[in-house]
Amino acid sequence: MSSTELEKARNKALELRREIEEHNYHYHVLDQPLIDDEMFDQMMLELQQLEKEFPELQDPDSPTRRVGAKPLEAFDTLEHKVPMLGLDNAFSDQDLADFDARVRKLSELDIIEYHCELKIDGLAVSLQYEEGVFKRGSTRGDGYSGEDITANLRTIRQIPLQLPEALTLEVRGEVYINKKDFEKLNNERESEGLMTFANPRNAAAGSLRQLDPRLTAKRPLKLFLYGLGEHVLDLSTQSDLLDRLENLFLPVNPNRTICRGLDEVQSYCRRWQDKKGELPYEIDGVVVKANDLDLQKELGFTARSPRWAIAYKYPPEEKTTRVLDIQVNIGRTGAITPVALLEPVSLSGTTVRRASLHNEDLIAEKGIMIGDTVVVHKAGEIIPEVIRVIEDDRSGEEKEFKMPGHCPSCSAETVRLSGEAARRCLNPSCPAQLVEKLVHFASRRAMDIEGMGPAMAEMVYNSGLVRDVGDLYYLTAAQLSEMPRMAEKSAENLVRAIAKSKENPLRRLLFGLGIRFVGEKAARLLAERFGNLDRLRKVREEDLVKIEEIGPKIGEAVVQFFHTPETSPVLEKLREAGVNFKEPEVVSTSDLLAGKTFVFSGSLDRYTRDEAAAAVEEKGGRVSSSISRKTDYLVAGEDPGSKLEKAQQLGVNVIDENEFSELLLKNVK
Ligand code: IVH
Repeated sequence: MSSTELEKARNKALELRREIEEHNYHYHVLDQPLIDDEMFDQMMLELQQLEKEFPELQDPDSPTRRVGAKPLEAFDTLEHKVPMLGLDNAFSDQDLADFDARVRKLSELDIIEYHCELKIDGLAVSLQYEEGVFKRGSTRGDGYSGEDITANLRTIRQIPLQLPEALTLEVRGEVYINKKDFEKLNNERESEGLMTFANPRNAAAGSLRQLDPRLTAKRPLKLFLYGLGEHVLDLSTQSDLLDRLENLFLPVNPNRTICRGLDEVQSYCRRWQDKKGELPYEIDGVVVKANDLDLQKELGFTARSPRWAIAYKYPPEEKTTRVLDIQVNIGRTGAITPVALLEPVSLSGTTVRRASLHNEDLIAEKGIMIGDTVVVHKAGEIIPEVIRVIEDDRSGEEKEFKMPGHCPSCSAETVRLSGEAARRCLNPSCPAQLVEKLVHFASRRAMDIEGMGPAMAEMVYNSGLVRDVGDLYYLTAAQLSEMPRMAEKSAENLVRAIAKSKENPLRRLLFGLGIRFVGEKAARLLAERFGNLDRLRKVREEDLVKIEEIGPKIGEAVVQFFHTPETSPVLEKLREAGVNFKEPEVVSTSDLLAGKTFVFSGSLDRYTRDEAAAAVEEKGGRVSSSISRKTDYLVAGEDPGSKLEKAQQLGVNVIDENEFSELLLKNVK
């Protein structure tokens, strides 16, 4: 190979890396991609190929190497050259006024210019760049040294691995998870039978502290940077500092402002207190900083915190209420979850009547008793949670709660398996579990049987006609209409919905069977890989784990499921009834949509975004998040926004929901 050839490849690789960083910034930080996913993937592919062809060009700091480090045994410790201190808190207007008075007095100024920023409720991290390359990152730890979480931080797409300038500096900020992503993560965990996170902050902290960076890479972590550690930048204000970080393609929160004097600070704080619910992430207050960096230096630090800044903390939306009772729910995997029944209380916009207490350890840790007065809030502004007991309010009448030693549904002994927080009923014929299994099987993302909700599932179970999901397919309208409050028409509709579900692809059936740890994603992978259920039934664990993303836990659970004696009769009933055991080939059923790129904008009536995307992909098309000349169709729903304009400018074919539906139908073979 000639040296000029290598030189050319090197220049191309450098250019690609720079461009990829830039597009990462536009996509992951600004949410305004400049190119579509396909073009981005193309660039990554090109870079990967260059690095493969010219091993000299391989570089651990290349964007092709974000994920891939091996699991660690433990985290190393990293020292902070400049300590990562915390902030003093202000809880009232008066506290803010006291802070302002102190700063004015110390500086001998009449009015102070402040920089106000949102206080992101996440986890503080520090990132070290050397000559523009991301080298190390750590948690705050005790303020003087933290854990080296470099491999995990590298998986966060918002963190550039290379800066556009060869600067050596340490930047600091907060890693967080969006409220919606938190909810989705918890839903996924729940469907996989895993413990859910209490709030977005815990989810972010748990994700960053994974020893296996491949797990961290799957978590929707984001970050905002708000300050510097050691650096050589020439800056005069905090506001300039953040602008400078932004110009380095580092993620900075846009909701920041310069406030002259206390009044403006107080109104900024009030404004965001009212509007914080509209933000996609959680904030727990506002950070008020003297804007002038010389003044910051002059004011300096106390042992614990800077004198030039304060955290104005919003009162968390908390209420007190009473625990009327503690009941238990039995999940489809037999996990027994204690649930507090609360005296109804209105909290962040809804009336809260129940709160999951997760498990017996948590009840013991918080010391919750029946009859207690407790403080509740909403984790992630969504999930009601008991924070603590007000012990002073106890009358002595409170009753201790004990997890039942026998399943309240089937009386089988409950057990706590080693390494698990949950107590379980292990009886495979437990009615409560069976009802939950039916509900899961029929749920929208599984077999999507309309009309088979929790009440109906319980009714068909109690009728004695249904003992497992296989029996559903033998129900007749006549049998159903004999059930209490069941109109003939509803019975017919339900039978029709059940029959329709027979045609679902294997992935939905697999997900619906409720195999432990097999969520939607694993179900799809397995269905695509094996093509039909009978092949999957025969597979050995060692072959399963060879599939990327199928770990030993899933592998073991799948094999165990198919070897459990109760499984076969259910599968045979499904087969007899004509339930589809096959996954359609990934190659489209028709190639009308093959090679066609769709972009969706605005909301559709009949499809969720996921469903619309799945329909396109099923037919060989692909979905992109941004419009480009290569887009074939923009499907414009309600309020399509700026994408519509762009599509029109570029001459992209714009279709509405009806036309989209027709296109899909035309496409059915
Ligand atoms: S400045 C020496 N700015 O709040 C000053 N902190 O309670 C360091 N935080 O440890 C902090 N958003 O984890 C600063 N815009 C922001 C922030 C912020 C969130 C966190 C950070 C800090 C804690 C202090």
